[in-house]
Amino acid sequence: KARVAVLISGGGTNMAALLYAAKRPDSPYEVVLVASNNPDAEGLKLAQAEGVATFAQSHVGLKRADHDDIMHNHITKAGAAYVALAGYMRILSGNFVEKWDGRMLNIHPSLLPKYTGLHTHQRAIDAGDSIAGCSVHLVTADLDEGPLLGQMEVAVLPNDTADSLAERVKIAEHQLYPRTLADYVSRATSPDYLTSKVREIALAQPEAD
Ligand code: GAR
Repeated sequence: KARVAVLISGGGTNMAALLYAAKRPDSPYEVVLVASNNPDAEGLKLAQAEGVATFAQSHVGLKRADHDDIMHNHITKAGAAYVALAGYMRILSGNFVEKWDGRMLNIHPSLLPKYTGLHTHQRAIDAGDSIAGCSVHLVTADLDEGPLLGQMEVAVLPNDTADSLAERVKIAEHQLYPRTLADYVSRATSPDYLTSKVREIALAQPEAD
């Protein structure tokens, strides 16, 4: 199975979705590490209870590149071949992004390319959008702009607040992320599912065993 490290900063519900999906015997990936920049991240406790190795290193007082190096060392020590960002609220240094080129995925709570960055749900509501959603993409140096691997749409309800919409989008995230990660590591690269650029990157990576 492909070895995946999941990076979180908070609640870790997407991490939990990735973890539980990986319990299926036919999962093509396994979660070998859950790492966080926030030692108090709730998700760390869940991962520990599920018997997954965890690592936490606060970024406070560290240079971005130094913090990323520490994370990178732990991820490689865990033998991970892929990194799944799951609510990891740190911008990554160029060096880190380069080291994981084609092997690092992120989930973002909007239908990219709409609403990169923060406050995606409020921005969708303010714009009067009737459809919101989530996206999984490869991480590149451009924040939230790497090649798209998958998206799921979520209807905006008339009385939605940013919180109520966020909650519903998360339900979609929990469906989208495990499936997209599984497809990616197992190279289920159907022509209309992935752009040619992504196929090129995916096929250049070592096969999952
Ligand atoms: C998720 O909605 C994820 O899409 C978002 O943070 C939340 C984390 O929730 N990520 C970003 O905004 C990245 N810029 P979780 O910790 O419960 O998975």
